[in-house]
Amino acid sequence: MSVCYLNGQWMDLAEARVSPMDRGFLFGDGVYEVIPSYSKHLFRVDEHLKRLDNSLKAIGLENPMNRAEWRKIVAEAVERNEGTDQSVYLQVTRGVGAVRNHAFPAEVTPTVFLMVETLTTPDEATRAQGGSAVSAADFRWLRCDLKAVSLLANCLLKQHAAENACVETILFRDGFLTEGAASSIFVVIDGTVYVPPKSHLMLPGITYDVVIELAQRHGMPLQVREILEDEVRSADEIWMTSSTKEVLPITRLDGRPVGKGLPGPMAAQMYGWYQEFKQEVMRHGG
Ligand code: PDD
Repeated sequence: MSVCYLNGQWMDLAEARVSPMDRGFLFGDGVYEVIPSYSKHLFRVDEHLKRLDNSLKAIGLENPMNRAEWRKIVAEAVERNEGTDQSVYLQVTRGVGAVRNHAFPAEVTPTVFLMVETLTTPDEATRAQGGSAVSAADFRWLRCDLKAVSLLANCLLKQHAAENACVETILFRDGFLTEGAASSIFVVIDGTVYVPPKSHLMLPGITYDVVIELAQRHGMPLQVREILEDEVRSADEIWMTSSTKEVLPITRLDGRPVGKGLPGPMAAQMYGWYQEFKQEVMRHGG
């Protein structure tokens, strides 16, 4: 049984009910977070909760709980559910309105929902071969820095990958790399790792930060700068990163091999450092 939290109550996920008048359902008017937990230790929970604060503030929704309350509930969600490595999904919507009206209701109580899923990282076969990706024009809105639940564009873009037996769709806007449909994208060119700077056009990934920190700690050359579409297409390596995919090499893009068409040496090195960091830090509440 999966135990979830809905508006102050813990219950079986199968029993949880939300009104169809909830603005999250009607308008996608809400924000979310996905927080990984390793051996029951939440990873960078404060960074995720800070990103939640930013998303809520940007959509004019007062945070229904303070940081300590959030930490307590997120930790309790992990404890109440089985599993060694888990991912906590939490979402806050603007709540249930009396009528369907795009503008916010004057009086409304946010809906708070948390559930826990097993954290599934890419399997050994995918790791060994690397994943394939397709590309697409980034037709999302101009606030991709917000972790909004209105993810229709991301769903369509991810479905495009699924229909082509790919793990991700890599997005380009005006000739530049932004990110993946549900991940951050790094490339390697001539021994240097490149990643686009954080902006309103991409989600500020927590794994993005970890990968940059690990490169700096181990002296791997890394530059944060705008990346041209052509540079991605001729890169020696492409990596996708997220809390669930960790660091996964992309070895084919639009049916053509990336570099030699196999996971590259720098991806292997970064993956190794990431796993070391997971064992030594993340599993101990770092
Ligand atoms: N998505 N960019 C987008 C558009 C994402 O949806 C995600 C993660 C990331 C990586 O962020 P992080 O490193 O903090 O996981 C980048 C989550 C996992 C999701 O929507 O399920």
